[in-house]
Amino acid sequence: MSFRLQPAPPARPNRCQLFGPGSRPAIFEKMANSAADVINLDLEDSVAPSDKDSARANIVEAIGDIDWGNKWLSVRINGLDTPYWYRDVVDLLELAPERLDQIMIPKVGCAGDLYAVDALVTAVEAAKGRSKRVAFEVIIESAAGIAHVEEIAAASPRLQAMSLGAADFAASMGMATTGIGGTQENYYMLHEGQKHWSDPWHWAQTAIVAACRTHGVLPVDGPFGDFSDDEGFRAQALRSATLGMVGKWAIHPKQVGIANEVFTPSDAAVSEAREILAAMEEAKAKGEGATVYKGRLVDIASIKQAEVIVKQSEMIGGQ
Ligand code: COA
Ligand code: MG
Repeated sequence: MSFRLQPAPPARPNRCQLFGPGSRPAIFEKMANSAADVINLDLEDSVAPSDKDSARANIVEAIGDIDWGNKWLSVRINGLDTPYWYRDVVDLLELAPERLDQIMIPKVGCAGDLYAVDALVTAVEAAKGRSKRVAFEVIIESAAGIAHVEEIAAASPRLQAMSLGAADFAASMGMATTGIGGTQENYYMLHEGQKHWSDPWHWAQTAIVAACRTHGVLPVDGPFGDFSDDEGFRAQALRSATLGMVGKWAIHPKQVGIANEVFTPSDAAVSEAREILAAMEEAKAKGEGATVYKGRLVDIASIKQAEVIVKQSEMIGGQ
């Protein structure tokens, strides 16, 4: 174990991030009334270049006008390689009220990208006398992003969450994929003539989780494009949860319930975790570091795994 303790990520639920284009204000109220923990109003790729100005104005107005309840309210700005991003930041922080919780920065490629946005955000916040410091989320969706993932995770005290953006990531990596996330037809092993599909996102997800856990940031799985495929979405979400991610995007409202279900520890999992903790307490009282629970070994590492589940459940229940 390192001498340096692993920092805790922000203690807020982030099971589902529901996206909606800033150019479609008719759905904002529906987003606010959804069961998603996080709302991502989009200025980037779901908004056509000709609509950027009006989408920005729609979002600035909606931040103040709509009752967003206790949702974590985030706006995705345009990438740093576009002429739009500085105006996104300036308008959001000069014109929108302090209800805005977070700015999401897409296509981040190095720590310097966060430094640049942080410098602009800090200056506008100071000039306008804003007391709330807006948080950041970044999207890892390029070869540079994944190559520099750890320095990005450590780049700003504003950084709270990091998502994998599968489609742009695949394009940047030159991957021969088609769908946004999920199983890819040609990524299989052959065993005795049978195809067994494996997971082409596994490495990137694990790299993101490791960087995030090292620096106290929430790791999140991005979009699953085929919103008619509920079981495909569920399978992708279950894999992400298994690897340590805390939530997943929804690009259609029907995905919200599935994400919430997958990323909320089940009653059975919480009861079992509590039983393991109790069994370990008993073992400790007898001076033992390991014991047997339901026929399997549990030890000090099991306490930590069980505590993750109990803490997550308490945090979600207490929101
Ligand atoms: N949030 C909240 N409500 C939404 C919604 C969203 N993202 N997308 C659709 N709805 C609403 C619709 O208004 C409709 O409501 P109604 O029953 O009151 O009429 C209902 O959900 C069903 O919508 P549906 O007809 O199935 O979808 P659509 O054709 O209107 O929209 C998309 C489909 C994919 C275009 C739309 O969901 C969307 O824009 N998603 C987000 C895309 C995005 O932000 N991408 C960037 C991140 S990858
Ligand atoms: Mg993208």
